[in-house]
Amino acid sequence: MTDSYLISGGKSLKGEIILSGAKNVALKTIIAALMFKGDVVLKNIPRINDVLDLIELIKSLGAKAEFKEKNTLVINSGGLKSNRVDLQYGSKIRVSFMLIAPLLHHFGECFVPNPGGCRIGARPIDRIVNGLIALGIKVNYDSKTGYYHVKIIKKPKGNYRFEKPSHTGTELLMMIGLMTDGKVEIDNIANEPEIDDLILYLNAAGANILEEKNKITVSKSPQLKLKEAFTIMSDRNELVTYATLVVASGGDVTIGPINENLITSFLEIMKKAGAGVEEISNFKYRFFYQGKIKPVDIETSPHPGFMTDWQPNWAILMLMANGSSVIHERVFENRFSYVEELNKLGAKINFIDIKVENPEFVYHFNHEKDKTYQQTIKIKGPSELHNAVLNIADLRAGAALACAALLATGESIVNGASILERGYENFVEKIGKLGGEIKKI
Ligand code: EPU
Repeated sequence: MTDSYLISGGKSLKGEIILSGAKNVALKTIIAALMFKGDVVLKNIPRINDVLDLIELIKSLGAKAEFKEKNTLVINSGGLKSNRVDLQYGSKIRVSFMLIAPLLHHFGECFVPNPGGCRIGARPIDRIVNGLIALGIKVNYDSKTGYYHVKIIKKPKGNYRFEKPSHTGTELLMMIGLMTDGKVEIDNIANEPEIDDLILYLNAAGANILEEKNKITVSKSPQLKLKEAFTIMSDRNELVTYATLVVASGGDVTIGPINENLITSFLEIMKKAGAGVEEISNFKYRFFYQGKIKPVDIETSPHPGFMTDWQPNWAILMLMANGSSVIHERVFENRFSYVEELNKLGAKINFIDIKVENPEFVYHFNHEKDKTYQQTIKIKGPSELHNAVLNIADLRAGAALACAALLATGESIVNGASILERGYENFVEKIGKLGGEIKKI
């Protein structure tokens, strides 16, 4: 099986990128479609590995899902016949635990494997399980099988306050709220724009979801039905990946379509780094090299802050900065798998200790007092990168490694292309259009 990229780097990249649909909306809209009646037509769904795997999974449960055109997916939950998510899929697609909502909607109970254990950290679902219980759902975990048995005893009702916000947790509890015959209130929610897009979609199908600043209220909703196709938003992670790569290469790119409010914190920080940023039209931006890149320190945080998914790509731009910069990762506890790999290319990155007052508040993962965390790196720029053989451990790190190889002189091999392609549609073609030399081997 071809699962590597052969990359010949060192070129200045130029051109245009048309963004694909957002992975983290596509997956949730597909899952939520199983709570709808009739055909659900979704547009702008990227043909990425995570989406293709999820489609296989829902088909294995009896649902219908078929691409009609390149990015138009039609889903129908009429044939759902199983309420048990296979372990094989559960271990492959983390969001499979979100199937709890449609499976409870159809069957009143379900069996879903524990999604915990992931390359970017432990990623427990303790807060989400507590939320389900608070809304009156019965949840039993069988440590022998690794399965959750989830059952509706009475219609979900009441309120739950996330101790720390969770993106998929907010989405799952909101979907559970659709089954209420009264009201479900969720407090201290995550504010990612991908959640807003999911709300837009559910409300378009008749849901009664009200989002205020830090709170979502779901009131009794009719059976969901979508009259028209729903087009999901663009992938802002893709934008960040190509914008940082092209500027680091000394090049020039226009990217769209994208709404400014999805990338405000990114635009600000690009300008701080001295990158050229220009709004071409309402939905299109130009990013270009206009002289030396300045080092800019960042720390990740939930929306509207600098997103955790963007930091591996920020590291790529900072490799070319004229001085040292620091990245402090606060959302996940293991998002630096790319560091050792980038150093193989000649990058100078090391872990540093910084003083963190109240780590239990600063970090969004469950902080354990006695554990040592390596949450901060220092990047010494500018780097002269040479070729190497690199191994991808997780999706966003994978994009960073492929981008670094595109900046390095000589031929590099990047192993684990299928991990990158879990989240990037037509990566090879898009890089090729910018003038980058990359092929699958
Ligand atoms: N957490 C817990 N317990 C919980 C829930 C979360 O400890 O019950 C921790 C997580 O382990 C993490 C932090 O809380 O350290 C924040 O996690 P959150 O639940 O917000 O993240 P997520 O829902 O698992 C989604 C995206 C991520 C994105 C984050 C932040 C999807 C499928 N995934 O993850 O995207 O980084 O929100 O916006 O929507 C990616 O696309 O590569 C990716 C990892």
